Amino acid sequence: MTDDAERILAADLLDDADRAVEGTLRPRSLDEYVGQREVKANLSVLLEAARGRGEAADHVLLYGPPGLGKTTLATIIARELGVNVRYTSGPAIERAGDLAAILTALDEHDILFIDEIHRLNRAVEEILYPAMEDYALDVMIGKGPSARSLRLTLKPFTIVGATTRAGRISSPLRDRFGATYRLDFYDEADLTAIVERSAGILGVEITRGAAHAIARRGRGTPRVVNRLLKRTRDHAQVLGDGRVDEAAADVALQAMEIDDAGLDTTDRKLMAAIAQKFGSGPVGVAALAAVLSEEVETIEDVYEPYLLRQGFLDRTPQGRILTEGGRAHLRRLGYEVPPRRRPEADMPPLWEDSVLEESETSS
Ligand SMILES: Nc1ncnc2c1ncn2[C@@H]1O[C@H](COP(=O)(O)OP(=O)(O)OP(=O)(O)O)[C@@H](O)[C@H]1O
Ligand SMILES: [Mg+2]
Repeated sequence: MTDDAERILAADLLDDADRAVEGTLRPRSLDEYVGQREVKANLSVLLEAARGRGEAADHVLLYGPPGLGKTTLATIIARELGVNVRYTSGPAIERAGDLAAILTALDEHDILFIDEIHRLNRAVEEILYPAMEDYALDVMIGKGPSARSLRLTLKPFTIVGATTRAGRISSPLRDRFGATYRLDFYDEADLTAIVERSAGILGVEITRGAAHAIARRGRGTPRVVNRLLKRTRDHAQVLGDGRVDEAAADVALQAMEIDDAGLDTTDRKLMAAIAQKFGSGPVGVAALAAVLSEEVETIEDVYEPYLLRQGFLDRTPQGRILTEGGRAHLRRLGYEVPPRRRPEADMPPLWEDSVLEESETSS
């Protein structure tokens, strides 16, 4: 995971410089927020209703793969409501007291954005239940037999939770959100619009064809297309006159080893491993992670969603399999793709290890 091309396509944030540019490119209103029409339509009703009643908005849960605009949306919600937003994350809140301190410091109708909300610990989560439901904070005073619980009232506020995996959130927590929105990968037209918008902000001259070429390789992810745009601009500046046309974009994307399906070397390595080491599957994700020296979570959250969506990969109860489409893509790129190893229809799968791993890691 040190190869440059791999890092460019990572949907995760890379470093502070990345973060700074991201800030300038971030849409500031629902109108500027490209795509996700259904989410935007529902959200604007929710916000309008809250404004109309003069109440805090319902708690909102946002989920979807990294880089699709969850944090951006939280910021927009606050802006549209004209309130403050305080950012924190599941792993950052270690103790119940930490959360209590954050909650008591919120002003009326403020937004508390909790990123990676599926990683809140149990004790903290339990403080959150009455807080979300009744704007109440239950604190224990004293110790031993004289200990008693005291209920404090909080000012009405809104939690916006974000997660890459809705399945990891406990159902009591999930139930306390008034609205749950799923962000999906963006289509090419939306990504092209995002590239053109970002180019405008960055002062990059770009042709429609080049914007399109970048969008096509952008993994359906705004963060990725923005990063590709910046790298393409660098190439055009150093090797040409700074103008990004289709030829310049193609050269830059090729130099980054991004193929025409938007896959980078890690994606291809993952697919090639399934094809060559596991007879195109089924293979458990743990075995795959071991072969690639990657975390199971990284494979599941960062790489798989896009490959699944492209139809190159399939998830079955027995494990991951490389589809015919995936095999054809590899072949087209010159990879060796051995014949598929398939269990006989009437026989139990022979590769119990992958079946075991699958049941261990599915949650
Ligand atoms: N709908 C959109 N229109 C235009 N730009 C967008 C949109 N959504 C996201 N972006 C851009 O993509 C970048 C990444 O978005 P954001 O940080 O909100 O993603 P995220 O879902 O919070 O990711 P993570 O899961 O890693 O926290 C932002 O800087 C923003 O510029
Ligand atoms: Mg985020």
